[in-house]
Amino acid sequence: MGGFTRPSWAFLLLVFIVLVVSCFQIGTKTVFPRWVVLGGGETGISEEAPSCFGLFREVPPRKVVMSIRDFGGVGDGVTSNTETFRRAIRYMQSFGNIGGSQLNVPRGRWVTGSFNLTSNFTLFLEEGAVILGSQDLEDWPIIEPLPSYGRGRERLGGRHISLIHGDALANVVITGQNGTIDGQGKMWWELWWNRTLEHTRGHLLEIKNSHNILISNLTFMNSPFWTIHPVYCSNVVIKDVTILAPLNAPNTDGIDPDSSTNVCIEDCYIESGDDLVAVKSGWDQYGIAMARPSSNIIVRRLSGTTPTCSGVGIGSEMSGGISNVTMEDLHIWDSAAGVRIKTDKGRGGYVVNITINNIRMERVKVPIRFSRGSNDHPDDGWDPKAVPKIKGIFISNVVSLNSTKAPLLEGIEGAPYEGICMKNVTLLGLAPAAKWHCEFVSGFTDAVFPVSCPQMQSNVSSSWCLDHLGNLQIDSSRKSSRKSVTLGMAMGQSQQNPELIRELTPTHPNLPTKGMV
Ligand SMILES: *[C@@H]1O[C@H](CO)[C@@H](O)[C@H](O)[C@H]1NC(C)=O
Ligand SMILES: *[C@@H]1O[C@H](CO)[C@@H](O)[C@H](O)[C@H]1NC(C)=O
Ligand SMILES: *[C@@H]1O[C@H](CO)[C@@H](O)[C@H](O)[C@H]1NC(C)=O
Ligand SMILES: *[C@@H]1O[C@H](CO)[C@@H](O)[C@H](O)[C@H]1NC(C)=O
Ligand SMILES: *[C@@H]1O[C@H](CO)[C@@H](O)[C@H](O)[C@H]1NC(C)=O
Ligand SMILES: *[C@@H]1O[C@H](CO)[C@@H](O)[C@H](O)[C@H]1NC(C)=O
Ligand SMILES: *[C@@H]1O[C@H](CO)[C@@H](O)[C@H](O)[C@H]1NC(C)=O
Ligand SMILES: *[C@@H]1O[C@H](CO)[C@@H](O)[C@H](O)[C@H]1NC(C)=O
Ligand SMILES: *[C@@H]1O[C@H](CO)[C@@H](O)[C@H](O)[C@H]1NC(C)=O
Ligand SMILES: *[C@@H]1O[C@H](CO)[C@@H](O)[C@H](O)[C@H]1NC(C)=O
Repeated sequence: MGGFTRPSWAFLLLVFIVLVVSCFQIGTKTVFPRWVVLGGGETGISEEAPSCFGLFREVPPRKVVMSIRDFGGVGDGVTSNTETFRRAIRYMQSFGNIGGSQLNVPRGRWVTGSFNLTSNFTLFLEEGAVILGSQDLEDWPIIEPLPSYGRGRERLGGRHISLIHGDALANVVITGQNGTIDGQGKMWWELWWNRTLEHTRGHLLEIKNSHNILISNLTFMNSPFWTIHPVYCSNVVIKDVTILAPLNAPNTDGIDPDSSTNVCIEDCYIESGDDLVAVKSGWDQYGIAMARPSSNIIVRRLSGTTPTCSGVGIGSEMSGGISNVTMEDLHIWDSAAGVRIKTDKGRGGYVVNITINNIRMERVKVPIRFSRGSNDHPDDGWDPKAVPKIKGIFISNVVSLNSTKAPLLEGIEGAPYEGICMKNVTLLGLAPAAKWHCEFVSGFTDAVFPVSCPQMQSNVSSSWCLDHLGNLQIDSSRKSSRKSVTLGMAMGQSQQNPELIRELTPTHPNLPTKGMV
C-alpha cells in the first residue's frame, strides 16, 4: 500500500518517460510516412528525419541587406535588369569581408541576363518574386568550356554561361520564400530542336570551384539545359527545391553534382525532360586527365517524373570517378528508368560504393538499368582502352508497380561490373516471360522478384553482398546499422523542427511530398 501512495521519484520518472515516448511514437507513426521519421542515428536525441544541414556551415546574418529596387530594378516582366543585378552584386561584393550582404528580390517579374554571385552573399527571393531569363542570346555570353569536358557538352568550343553563375566562392546562400527562377528555356530548346544552336546551352544555376553553398526553398523552372550544376565544389546543400520543366524539354536535368564532394540533396520534387538527379565527373580523356571525382553524395527524399529518362543516374560522364553515393527514400513515377548507371568504353574512371535504398516506383519502364552509351565521345581523342571500373553497387528495398522490364544490366566486355548486390527488390506488372538481362556483370541477389539471372547468383559474392546489404533496412532496425550511425553523426546537428517535418508530410500517396517548406 505504502508503495502505491508514495511511489519513488525514480518510478514516477519512469512512468513519465514511458508516456512521453509512447505518445511521441504514436504521433509520429500516424502523422509521418514511415521513412520520414527514420534516422537520427543513435545519438538518442530523437527520431528526427536525417538532414543535410550539418554539411553547410551556418552563416551569420548578413550585415547589409538591400533590395534590387534600391539599385533601380524594375519588376514589370519587360524591363531588362541585367545591368542592375550586375551593379548590385558588384556593390555588395565590397561587404564580403565585413559581414557579408543579402540582396532581396521582392514580388514581381524581374527579367535579367546572366549575372555572377559573390562570396558571403545571400540571394533571397521573396514570396511572388520571379527572376526571368532574358530572351536575348547576348545576355548569356560565351565562357570557357570546363576542363573536365574539354569542350561544350553539346557543341565544340565555349558554352553559354548560366543565368546565375558563381565561380570560386564561399558561403553563398540562394534561398527565399519559394520564389521562382525561370530560365524561359523554350527559345533554347527550339534552337536545339531545329539544329541551329551554335554553342552549348547555359545552365539555370551553375556554381563552380566553390565551397559551403546552400540552395533552398526555391522553384527553378524552364532551364535551357541542366538546371542546377555544382561543379568542382564541396559542401553543397540543396534542400526543399522544386524543379519544373516540360517533360519533353531536351536535357533539362534537375540536379547534376559534377566532380564535387560532400553534396547533399534532400526533400526535392523534380519533373523535367531528363534525369532528375545525375551524378557526374567529367568526360572521357578530359575527365580522366583532370581526375576530379564526385564523392560523398547524398540524395534523399526525392520524388518526381521524367518520361524519357531516369529518376536517379550515375554518368554517363564519370571519367574522374564516382564513389560513396547514397540515394535513399525515393519516389519515382512515369519514367523510362528508375535507377540508371550509364558509362562506356573511353570513359575510364570508376563507380564504386553506391548505395541505393528504399525506392517506390509506379509505371517506370525499366526500374533498374545499367547501360552502355551510344558512341557519345567529346572528339576522336578518346581512348578505347580506357574502361571504367564498376564495383560495389548496393540496391535494396525497391518496390516497383506496373513496370515493363526486369533489370537490364549491361556491363562492358573486358571490364565486367563486379559486386552488384541487390536485396528485397520486387518488380510487379511485368509480363510473365520477363527475364533479367545480364551481360558482363556479377553479383548476388537475395529476395528479388522476378528471379535474377545466373550471373547475379554468384556464391563468391554472396557473403560480401549480404554483409553490405545487411546494414540497409527501411524500418527502425535501421537505427542500429553502421550506416545510419555515420549519417547520424554527420548530420547530427539537424535543425528541423516538428512544423517543418509536418509540412513535409504528404497528404496523398505520392511520397515524398510535391511541396516544400
Ligand atoms: C567571407 O567571410 C569570412 C568570415 O565569415 C572571411 O573569413 C572571408 O575572408 C570572407 N570572404 C571574402 C571573399 O570576403
Ligand atoms: C562572370 O564570371 C565569368 C567567369 O566565371 C566571367 O567570364 C564573366 O565575365 C563574369 N560576368 C560578369 C558580368 O562579370
Ligand atoms: C521557406 O519558405 C517558406 C514559405 O514559402 C517560409 O515560411 C520559410 O521560412 C522559408 N524557409 C527558409 C529557411 O527560408
Ligand atoms: C530555330 O529556333 C529559334 C528559336 O526559337 C528561332 O529563332 C529560329 O528562327 C529557328 N530556326 C529555324 C531554321 O527554324
Ligand atoms: C561517405 O559519405 C558520407 C556522407 O557524405 C560520409 O558521412 C562518410 O564519411 C563517407 N564515407 C567515406 C568512407 O568517405
Ligand atoms: C569503398 O568502400 C570500402 C569499404 O566498404 C573502402 O575500403 C573503399 O576504400 C571504398 N572505395 C572508395 C573508392 O571509396
Ligand atoms: C522491402 O522493401 C519494401 C520497400 O522499401 C519495404 O516496404 C518492405 O518492408 C521491405 N521488406 C523487408 C523484409 O525488408
Ligand atoms: C497498374 O495497372 C493496372 C492495370 O492497368 C491499373 O489498374 C493500376 O491502377 C495500375 N497501378 C499503378 C500504380 O499504376
Ligand atoms: C550456391 O550455393 C548453393 C548452396 O550453397 C547451391 O545450391 C547453388 O547451386 C550455388 N550456386 C552457384 C551459382 O554455384
Ligand atoms: C513552391 O512553388 C511551386 C511552383 O509554383 C509549387 O509547385 C510548390 O508546391 C510550392 N511549394 C510550397 C511549399 O508552397
